[in-house]
Amino acid sequence: MCGIVGYTGSKMAFPIVISGLKRLEYRGYDSTGVALLNDGLKVYKKKGRVADLENAIIGKDLHGHTGIGHTRWATHGEPNDKNAHPHSSASGKLVMIHNGIIENYAQLKKELVNKGYVFSSDTDSEILLNFIEEIKENNQCNLEEALRIALKRVTGTYVILLLDAENPDTIIAARKGSPLVIGVGKGEHFLGSDASPMLEYTKEVVYVNDYELAIVRPNELILKNLGNEQITPFVTKLDMELAAIEKGGYEHFMLKEIFEQPSTINDCLRGRLDAAAGTITMSGIENNITHFKNANRIIIVACGTSWHAALLAEYIIEELCRIPVEVEYASEFRYRNPIINKGDIIIAISQSGETADTLVAIERAKENGAIIFGVVNVVGSSIARISDGGAYTHAGPEIGVASTKTFTGQLAVLVMMALKIANEKGTISEDRYKNLLLELEAVPEKVDAILKSAEQLKTIALKYKDASDALYLGRGYNFPIALEGALKLKEISYIHAEGYPAAEMKHGPIALVDENLPVVFIATKDLYHEKIVSNIQEIKARKGKVIAIITEGDEIIPGMADDVFFVPFADDIIAPMLSSIPMQLLSYYIGIAKGVDVDKPRNLAKSVTVE
Ligand code: M6R
Repeated sequence: MCGIVGYTGSKMAFPIVISGLKRLEYRGYDSTGVALLNDGLKVYKKKGRVADLENAIIGKDLHGHTGIGHTRWATHGEPNDKNAHPHSSASGKLVMIHNGIIENYAQLKKELVNKGYVFSSDTDSEILLNFIEEIKENNQCNLEEALRIALKRVTGTYVILLLDAENPDTIIAARKGSPLVIGVGKGEHFLGSDASPMLEYTKEVVYVNDYELAIVRPNELILKNLGNEQITPFVTKLDMELAAIEKGGYEHFMLKEIFEQPSTINDCLRGRLDAAAGTITMSGIENNITHFKNANRIIIVACGTSWHAALLAEYIIEELCRIPVEVEYASEFRYRNPIINKGDIIIAISQSGETADTLVAIERAKENGAIIFGVVNVVGSSIARISDGGAYTHAGPEIGVASTKTFTGQLAVLVMMALKIANEKGTISEDRYKNLLLELEAVPEKVDAILKSAEQLKTIALKYKDASDALYLGRGYNFPIALEGALKLKEISYIHAEGYPAAEMKHGPIALVDENLPVVFIATKDLYHEKIVSNIQEIKARKGKVIAIITEGDEIIPGMADDVFFVPFADDIIAPMLSSIPMQLLSYYIGIAKGVDVDKPRNLAKSVTVE
């Protein structure tokens, strides 16, 4: 949440900062601002998107070789010009951008107000900045020292970048709980919430850790801890190309990412799955195989779409590996007092690897002796780094706020994990194991076939775009897909939608059914097919409109449903990877028809780094 960018070097900072902000807009887009250091400080900020700021500053002085920029997802204070970052200190000599939440801001504010400070915004960030300045002036110390003292008093999360009018070419940064990447160039440095702002300039990056402070100059990068001890920066080589973060001819990132799935699933399987040889190679599992084989239980923590993948993983792992699995919302798990036994395995599922609740949940579990296994997309992210083992989804950067290709990537990884463990434990028959490997191998081709029929979903979307509510129903392995379908529709089209197990409908939601209610059934050919056919009848008997996602060759449901969409046949465990594709496309086309900015729907941010 909130995107931060910085540059110091021989180039003009503004173009680098502004294009970096465009790439980080997925993290929040309530307001935008930049500060440039060039013989004094210049600050420009505006409510709205990066484009709104660009329009507002035409003709202004944008010179400066050092600059910082911020795109905001509002926490404290509504989105408006005065709450936009960067904030200036009372003296005007310091400016700061901040991503995170200062939890004890009220106490700090009280202290500052007693000393006569007046604030011009409603943000916690402006309070922190003035707190730092107050320490600097009181102690007659430099900014770095003042920051170190201030951070010892702060509770909450932050990445902050500071400029000091009296300290040319220098950006001072600190991190706790939110991501910060520093790109190392020749005589220049780049800073970002992720590596996307620096991709065309350098592939060498340093991931800053919690409680670290960075002093960044064109030719110098000093990393220190809060105890003022110097740390050697660990430089990592980025394995990412610019094309991966561009739209590549698609109208929206979301559409591009939906259509990338045949290749992202392939990337996820490549080097791991060898159906002909009957093997799955996953070093993260292999290194922890004894733990997995002996595990008394597995707890999976996640949020949002990743939580839906977790729910599916529960069904799959319990069926194939016969290990009890519990699925927890990370935000609940971290605050209740769960029983965690030494040796319990906690799987954290996260696209970004930075979700605050998931991160803290696994930190707590780790303290209690659990083994942490991360299923993460973003390489080098916080969750990936604190996990004891893990498996990347290899879906590439996902820019659209709605998770699409990373969801199917998570499912592919989780199925492989379950198969690997089950095979090692001997809880799966040889025939089923081999058959599932072949089924998994065939997924990219089947997804490709589904995408070729995408236009049919556009037609269905136009029919239902004006609905005010929708129900999504599925049974067994398709129940988590019903939840995910409903989430996609809500976030991308603003239509209220609920997902339920189809049989649960009779216990309440059926009261909503009338001739205006679209009900999406995920009804592929599986164990429950006859049961779900009955559920469809129950909806039709009450005049509901049925849209059914069904398996090719199904001759029963087309006679009952108002609209159908066919997907290729797959084993029950594999079918969700296919049926999730029409869920994504239906939401996308409805969102577009309603004029929603599907890549940046209101109020949302891609990476939820505040709790
Ligand atoms: O990065 P994470 O997977 O940890 O994010 C968790 C949720 O915020 C995320 O899955 C969110 O629900 C989706 N972007 C919605 O499409």
